[in-house]
Amino acid sequence: MKCEDTKKLHIAIFASHTGTNMQAIIDACRRGDLNGEVCAVISNNSNSQALEKARIAGVPEYHLSNKTYPEEDELDEAICKVLTESGADIVALAGYMKKLGPEVLKHYKGRILNIHPSLLPKYGGKGMYGTHVHRAVIDAGEKTTGVTIHLVEEEYDTGKIIRQCEIEVLDGDTIDTLSKRVLEREHAFYVETLKLISEGVIKL
Ligand code: GRF
Repeated sequence: MKCEDTKKLHIAIFASHTGTNMQAIIDACRRGDLNGEVCAVISNNSNSQALEKARIAGVPEYHLSNKTYPEEDELDEAICKVLTESGADIVALAGYMKKLGPEVLKHYKGRILNIHPSLLPKYGGKGMYGTHVHRAVIDAGEKTTGVTIHLVEEEYDTGKIIRQCEIEVLDGDTIDTLSKRVLEREHAFYVETLKLISEGVIKL
């Protein structure tokens, strides 16, 4: 299927730190590998590399947090306003370390994705992020780990699983080598999944 035959996806990305998944999605849209446009990047961290990368890429970026809106409901409302005004069809969380508020969850129900660096439901939930996940996988002696893209609900890492891919844990893998390999796979996997959504192959 040609890119121009598919529906252009307007994607809002939430990221708290490095933003490498965010960058991969922006790059894929610009290369034409994905018929989409990142219409907003939102971060709760004003110093995040994600916001800096979005700025460099010329993508509208917003710092929205308890610092800019001390009341949770006002923050939720402000995020919802940015999302709707940016024309977002879909929300992609990529290393976003805060829970979304009820307004955003309601408005974008069934259209909010998250990426997690394990085969959920294994190694998910509160406290399971970054190196904690890979340490737990290695400590448990797992031979296989992977990446999960799932719909977002109120709690961390719950919600319908949309797609998973497996990644082998190699003998001698360290947290560092494993996390690098998984992250690299995440970038392609998130882009592929958004592409399948834009093509209507995956229906949310
Ligand atoms: C990724 O490992 C993702 O699975 C998790 O947070 C990390 C974000 O990395 N939710 P980056 O900010 O995209 O580099």
